[in-house]
Amino acid sequence: MTAKRAVSPRRGILDIAPYVPGKSALQGGQPVIKLSSNETPFGPSPRAVEAYVAAAANLSRYPDGSARSLREAIAKLYGLDPARIVCGAGSDELLNLLAAAYLGPGDEAIYSEHGFLVYRIAIRAAGATPVVAPETALTADVDAIIARVSPATRMVFLANPNNPTGTYLSSDAVKRLRAALPDDVLLVLDAAYAEYVRANDYEAGIELVATTPNTVMTRTFSKIYGLASLRIGWAYCPDDIADALNRIRGPFNVSGPAIAAGVAALQDRTAVARSVEHNEVWRGRMAEALSALGLKVTPSAANFLLVHFPKGNGRSAVEADKFLQSRRIILRRVEEYGFPDALRLTVGTEAENRTVLDALHAFMGAKVSARP
Ligand SMILES: Cc1ncc(COP(=O)(O)O)c(C=O)c1O
Repeated sequence: MTAKRAVSPRRGILDIAPYVPGKSALQGGQPVIKLSSNETPFGPSPRAVEAYVAAAANLSRYPDGSARSLREAIAKLYGLDPARIVCGAGSDELLNLLAAAYLGPGDEAIYSEHGFLVYRIAIRAAGATPVVAPETALTADVDAIIARVSPATRMVFLANPNNPTGTYLSSDAVKRLRAALPDDVLLVLDAAYAEYVRANDYEAGIELVATTPNTVMTRTFSKIYGLASLRIGWAYCPDDIADALNRIRGPFNVSGPAIAAGVAALQDRTAVARSVEHNEVWRGRMAEALSALGLKVTPSAANFLLVHFPKGNGRSAVEADKFLQSRRIILRRVEEYGFPDALRLTVGTEAENRTVLDALHAFMGAKVSARP
């Protein structure tokens, strides 16, 4: 009998390190304070939950494959053309679809040093080569990205603001990047945290998508809309790019309950405004209190903070993580982003924030008060 040959994935697939999500539970199963995945502490709008529950009546029916009601609701809110919006199962799916449609073996795609890890996975899954551009002050560096463009470059991924640093590029800087990139290089502006940004010099990407033929913006319902579990993202694209994505996406890639909840969530502007306000206040208070404990905090425009711990003397990020977990608090370890000495902390409810600050106060053994 001849030996059976095992099937194997395409070359390069097994070189991809799987994405490791933020921890969500600890041993013992008791309740935790989970500030590890940049989710909103408020949950979804009650209107979205209501729409989701109502959608249970139709689970035996396929959803509208074009997610028209959701695209129209997004288009109405932002004044966009619904035909140029493509919805996906989270923005992760759209990032992967963009790579699948526009990258292949021999191509290069650039992202920044501490950029969101899904880019590397998407690029490699498409058989292309990731190229990393160094950052300056933990912020994407336009000149460094431009310097890494080669004849093989087909795409640039830019998270703005970036996860896990929380830093952002101004609208002028992004425009400068677009202008310097060759026309056949697709610029993907991943604006997963755009709703949280209050800086006057920020623009999520709508303007550039409207005015250039080679820029795409991706957005998500996982963060400020509190629908991470439903998996809803959208991309705003030039016509031809929307057409390409629509050819390769799953025909029913966004579920009916997700579409219904997404439409309802978009309409609850009060919930969004409250989240933005809470985030603005508590991100500032947390940064200040953590600095008072002697910890370095990277200035953030998003709903999380990158907190840097000392290297040794029992106060390292690994030890802090262990200590916090002993108090049932989960932050995000960020070694794989190049930060072995930092933890990422999502802004939580007031009570969660105070509990974390108390715990870190105890951990650091600080004399100064960490209470805002
Ligand atoms: C920068 C960035 N982009 C995209 C995503 C993916 O979000 P989702 O697939 O839930 O829409 C995340 C989630 O953490 C993120 O931080």
